Amino acid sequence: MASGVKIREFRPEDYREVEEIWKETELYLPIDRRGLYLKLIQRSPHLFLVAEREGRVIGTAIGFFPYLPPSLLLEVGIGYIGHLAVRPEVQGRGIGSRLLKEICARLRSQGKSMALLGVKPWERRYKDLKRFYRERHGFKNLGMIYIKKL
Ligand SMILES: CC(C)(COP(=O)(O)OP(=O)(O)OC[C@H]1O[C@@H](n2cnc3c(N)ncnc32)[C@H](O)[C@@H]1OP(=O)(O)O)[C@@H](O)C(=O)NCCC(=O)NCCS
Repeated sequence: MASGVKIREFRPEDYREVEEIWKETELYLPIDRRGLYLKLIQRSPHLFLVAEREGRVIGTAIGFFPYLPPSLLLEVGIGYIGHLAVRPEVQGRGIGSRLLKEICARLRSQGKSMALLGVKPWERRYKDLKRFYRERHGFKNLGMIYIKKL
């Protein structure tokens, strides 16, 4: 268990470190999405979380789907979870679980009844990811879609 780790909402000045984490964890797409994310967090600031330790951002989790108007999935009671990532050197210490639980709690408190996320079978550690979501966090998987009742 990692001590001294704080889960807090994203601030625009975190962006450089956040992008670094997405690169380190292969979640980065080589397009500049800064404008998109900054716009989206204006609408849903409580759904973009980071994990921080000693002033350094070490993990991220987002509770909306960046490529659709956030209202679309949220209106139908589904919260989308994406960009769950923890710096490789501190993986396996419970930080990803804390981020995931906090995003689920926030979606639930917004009245969402379902969390949805996608896992690609060609991810490098697909079996570990599958175990993480299914066994540790109670998601069910339907192919690449993972869902959980909140
Ligand atoms: C998946 C991830 C967010 C989990 O965060 P974490 O802090 O390492 O997870 P926790 O410590 O809470 O839980 C540990 C479990 O996560 C899984 N896990 C750990 N590192 C992992 C990795 N690099 N890839 C996939 N799963 C991993 C394992 O199942 C582990 O359980 P085990 O100890 O029984 O093997 C993190 O490992 C990560 O950033 N992976 C790379 C990016 C990614 O694949 N994100 C998810 C996209 S759907």
